[in-house]
Amino acid sequence: VLVPTEQDRRAAPAGLRVDVYTGDGDPAGDLGDVTFYVLPYARPDAVQLLPGLTGLRAVQLLTAGYEAVQPLLPAGVALHNAAGLHDASTAEMAMALILAAQREVPRWALNQRDGAWQRDFTRSLAGSRVLVVGYGGIGKALEARLLPFEVEVVRVASRARPEERIHGVDELPALLPGADIVALAVPETPATRGLIGGRELALMPDDALLVNVGRGSAVDQAALLAEGGRIRAALDVLRDEPPGPNDPVWTAPGVFFSPHIGGGSATFVPRSRKFIAEQLRRWAAGEALLNRVS
Ligand SMILES: NC(=O)c1ccc[n+]([C@@H]2O[C@H](COP(=O)([O-])OP(=O)(O)OC[C@H]3O[C@@H](n4cnc5c(N)ncnc54)[C@H](OP(=O)(O)O)[C@@H]3O)[C@@H](O)[C@H]2O)c1
Repeated sequence: VLVPTEQDRRAAPAGLRVDVYTGDGDPAGDLGDVTFYVLPYARPDAVQLLPGLTGLRAVQLLTAGYEAVQPLLPAGVALHNAAGLHDASTAEMAMALILAAQREVPRWALNQRDGAWQRDFTRSLAGSRVLVVGYGGIGKALEARLLPFEVEVVRVASRARPEERIHGVDELPALLPGADIVALAVPETPATRGLIGGRELALMPDDALLVNVGRGSAVDQAALLAEGGRIRAALDVLRDEPPGPNDPVWTAPGVFFSPHIGGGSATFVPRSRKFIAEQLRRWAAGEALLNRVS
C-alpha cells in the first residue's frame, strides 16, 4: 500500500506492508507489488506512478472530483473519492467568497494597501435569495452555513425531488431571474460543462453574484467576462488553472478569484487521516472500501 504521509503509515493496521509516497521524488522500492495507492492531495503529478503499478487493484483519491484520474486507470482497478472530506472546508470557502463579494472585502484590502480611507454603503448577504446549484455534500454544507445569515436558499440538483424541496437543473431558466446569488458546487461531467453560459447569465439580474467552488468548466468563462461586470463573480475554480499571463480573467471587472483552495484547509487534515485509517483497516480486513465511484 502507498499512503501520502508518515502519520498515515503509522496508523495502518498490522499485516499490511505500507510505504509513504508524498508526491516528491521517487517512491522507495519495487512498485509492481503495490495493490492499493492513496494519492497525495493536490499533487497532480502523483498520477504519473500509475502506469508502473502493474499489480494495482484500488486507488483512493483525496479529492471529491475524480474526472481527471478515472480515464487513466486500467480496467479492473477500483476508484474511490474523498466525498465528504472537503464539505466543511469548501462550503466555508464559498461563504468566504460570498461575504467578501457582498461586503466588498477585496476593495477594502486594496484600499488599505494604497493608504486610502474611503467609506461606502455596500450590499449585504441578509435578505438575499441564494441558488445553491449542486445539492450534494458541499451544497448541503453551504446551505447549513447560509441559513443563519437570514437568506432564502433555493436548492437545485440534477433532478427535482419536490419532497426535499429540490429543483431540477432544467428549472434554472425560471429560477435565475429571481436569484441574488448563484453558488455552484457541481462535479465536472458532460452535463455540467458550460452549465452557466451566455443564456443563463443573461437571465440573472443586474449585479447578481455568481460563485463557483465546483469545477471551472461549469461556467462559460468567456461569456462571463463578456458581461463586463454586470454579473459579479467570486470564483475558487477557473477554466484554466492557473490562468495564462494574458488571460483577461486576471483583470475582469467585478470578478475576483482564489486559486482553487476551497478544499485545502486545516480542517481537511484530521478528516483525511481518519478516513485513510478506516480505508486501510477495511483493506486489511478484506472489507469493501468506502466511497467507490467506479
Ligand atoms: N474548490 C475545491 O477545492 C473543491 C473541493 C472539493 C470538491 N470540489 C468540487 O465540487 C464538486 C461537488 O462535490 P460534492 O462532494 O458536493 O459532490 P456530490 O456530493 O456528489 O454532489 C454533487 C451535486 O451536484 C449535483 N449535480 C450533478 N450534476 C448536475 C447537473 N448537471 N446539474 C445540476 N446539479 C448537478 C448532484 O445532483 P443529484 O443530487 O441530483 O445527484 C449533487 O447534488 C466535486 O465533484 C469537485 O469537483 C471542489
